[in-house]
Amino acid sequence: MRLNLRALAAKAVYTVLEQGKSLSSVLPDEQQALHNPKDKALLAELCYGVMRTLPQLDQRVVSCLSKPFKNKQRIVHQLLLVGCYQLYFTRIPAHAAISETAEACRQLGHENLVKVVNGVLRNIQRQQQPLAENTPTLQYNFPGWMIKKLQAAYGDDWQSIVCNSQQRPPMWLRNNYRRQSREEYLQQLHQQGIEASPGSSDDAILLEHPCDVTQLPEFAQGAVSVQDGAAQWAAQLLDAQPGERILDACAAPGGKSCHILERTRDVELLAVDNDSKRLARVAQNLQRLALKAQLIHGDAAAIDSWWQGPRFDRILLDAPCSATGVIRRHPDIKWLRKPADIAELSKLQAQILDHCWQWLKPGGVLLYATCSIMPEENHQQITAFLARTADAQLQPITALQENCPSDWQILPGQDNMDGFYYAKLRKSPTA
Ligand SMILES: C[S@@+](CC[C@H](N)C(=O)[O-])C[C@H]1O[C@@H](n2cnc3c(N)ncnc32)[C@H](O)[C@@H]1O
Repeated sequence: MRLNLRALAAKAVYTVLEQGKSLSSVLPDEQQALHNPKDKALLAELCYGVMRTLPQLDQRVVSCLSKPFKNKQRIVHQLLLVGCYQLYFTRIPAHAAISETAEACRQLGHENLVKVVNGVLRNIQRQQQPLAENTPTLQYNFPGWMIKKLQAAYGDDWQSIVCNSQQRPPMWLRNNYRRQSREEYLQQLHQQGIEASPGSSDDAILLEHPCDVTQLPEFAQGAVSVQDGAAQWAAQLLDAQPGERILDACAAPGGKSCHILERTRDVELLAVDNDSKRLARVAQNLQRLALKAQLIHGDAAAIDSWWQGPRFDRILLDAPCSATGVIRRHPDIKWLRKPADIAELSKLQAQILDHCWQWLKPGGVLLYATCSIMPEENHQQITAFLARTADAQLQPITALQENCPSDWQILPGQDNMDGFYYAKLRKSPTA
């Protein structure tokens, strides 16, 4: 049976919350069932919206149920979240939201619960109660353990970090320096009626309003790519020079690899990732931009097993991380991450960092990056690395603002960017 849009949304939300998959991996499959771009966009809005506001929706739905749904009926709970989101956060007329959601319940094989879904949503609509805000988790729609960690790390700034992480993210473009200057592309955008402004790094362009990439001049021909302004600092800070051999140790899907190649001709770039599916996306991105790199499916913590060549002039280590800096783009991260993940990731990052360091030439530069805002993965990680690595020195990141520390923690929303962390490490020339 063909499922309606609410049933597809419930399926996607179920797969994220009950099976631990990321929304960005699940959503495209469900969107395939829809043909109209507006429907695809509404499906995304419902799923992302539920992830953004989950605690409040959950509290409201649970308060209307006499007993919770279990096992196979669990998807009806997710469906009610989707229904509740429509009533509180969209302009969809309540009668349409309720009837479509109840119909979805039947389509999902729970005919016996259609009346319950209908009744719960009607109650919610009739009562018009404000959503609960009586705990920090409910007030900010953020997991309590993350709030505590942010309070410990950032003191009074935690609230603005959390609030910025709840905002809808802007759309950033990376100008392809090989094709045109940023000024020229800004002109082209302006001529198309797309308002945009330059970002703080060399190639970044911030769009006033997000748009479909098909509306962007010469997107398919590689004139620009979509990449957050914070991520675009990686290639600029790495500062690859012609003739150098560069390792991008955790490269997929390849945004930063492509940027390095766009900025500097005649570099030999090895793009490595241990996930073969994701590595295939690096190949696609290189192809669209007509760039060349050597792709290797391998472990960045065991370089010896796939590389017999000389050491590298520069290494970009964009490490696997908690992705807590990009929650505004991926609100499901709030529910997928668990407190123990941070320590585990920090251990893995240290392993990869120590190993990559051995493959850096004397005098070479390693840029360590994460899209995390957790100090264990960032400042504390690098402080510990410097303490155990005699031939490593932290290079100041100078190109930025005054008072710039030697490493750089970008917080979500700062200059409209995602949360990101950079530390530039130089190996002693006599190592
Ligand atoms: C933050 S993402 C990289 C994003 C990428 N640099 C970009 O700009 O498009 C981290 C990547 O590390 C990869 N990864 C995780 N552990 C790895 C390992 N031990 N060796 C190599 N790659 C690894 C993941 O598959 C993931 O693609």
